Amino acid sequence: MKSTPSGVQYADMRGKIALVTGAASGIGEACSRQFAAQGCRLLLLDRDVDRLKMLAAELDARVVAGDVTDEDTVERAVAACQAHLGGLDYAVNSAGVAGRPAALDDTTLEEWQRVTGINLTGVFLCLKHQLRTMKAAGKGAIVSIASGAGLIGTPYLAPYCASKHAVLGLTKTAAMEVASSGVRVNAVLPGSTRTPMLEDSMRQGPELEAMILNSIPCGRLGTADEIAAAALWLCSAQASYVNGHSLVVDGATIAR
Ligand SMILES: NC(=O)c1ccc[n+]([C@@H]2O[C@H](COP(=O)([O-])OP(=O)(O)OC[C@H]3O[C@@H](n4cnc5c(N)ncnc54)[C@H](O)[C@@H]3O)[C@@H](O)[C@H]2O)c1
Repeated sequence: MKSTPSGVQYADMRGKIALVTGAASGIGEACSRQFAAQGCRLLLLDRDVDRLKMLAAELDARVVAGDVTDEDTVERAVAACQAHLGGLDYAVNSAGVAGRPAALDDTTLEEWQRVTGINLTGVFLCLKHQLRTMKAAGKGAIVSIASGAGLIGTPYLAPYCASKHAVLGLTKTAAMEVASSGVRVNAVLPGSTRTPMLEDSMRQGPELEAMILNSIPCGRLGTADEIAAAALWLCSAQASYVNGHSLVVDGATIAR
């Protein structure tokens, strides 16, 4: 059996079915690899068709290529888990975008709708269809990838910050609604994590990279594997009484 980078194996995960959105890159990709290393069968969703297909070939996974803001796409992905893999045990909702930095009063309505559409409506649609299936089965665990920006103000990223705060509200509400059905819904709140999303932002200026590093008490960026390890633990039976929780994984950044 392959092991995860941390070497942890969750015996209960072997042969289970996992759906990952935003699977083609960064944290979603790391989650996909770690579920695969646990012996899970995977359905991967992303709008980046080429990268999605490459990863799926490597992990022997099924794919649905498309956008999480499109309800038909999300419904099709959940239905494909049932039709082709036999159910849905775990879901990680990682698809998201940072948005273009701008002061709130310079943020266009179009940019607001684009970012909240992906980061918030996308998670809503995923939860809606994942929960229907999991409630009917009487089991399942979902983790949405929010952000430390879901707990604190984030100047010049208003749509991102607002959407991540809202994901925590959705997570808590969903958890309370489905707890008695045996389904758990949690969120992971990463700090600055080295992924293509963050690298794109840091390319906007070397001073930005220094600013980000200075804000992290442990002095380094997180890795996608460190975030994925938290998401996997929340899905595992080791976290069987953890529900409606927002797990910050950020090297103490927002503890200061
Ligand atoms: N990297 C960080 O520092 C950081 C920090 C906090 C939170 N997060 C969150 O983690 C999640 C993953 O981010 P990442 O850093 O891995 O970014 P990433 O850009 O490396 O990966 C995001 C993936 O989501 C996909 N995606 C984006 N919009 C989509 C859509 N509408 N439909 C389908 N797929 C879509 C992209 O194609 C990409 O493959 C995001 O929700 C992000 O907000 C990241």
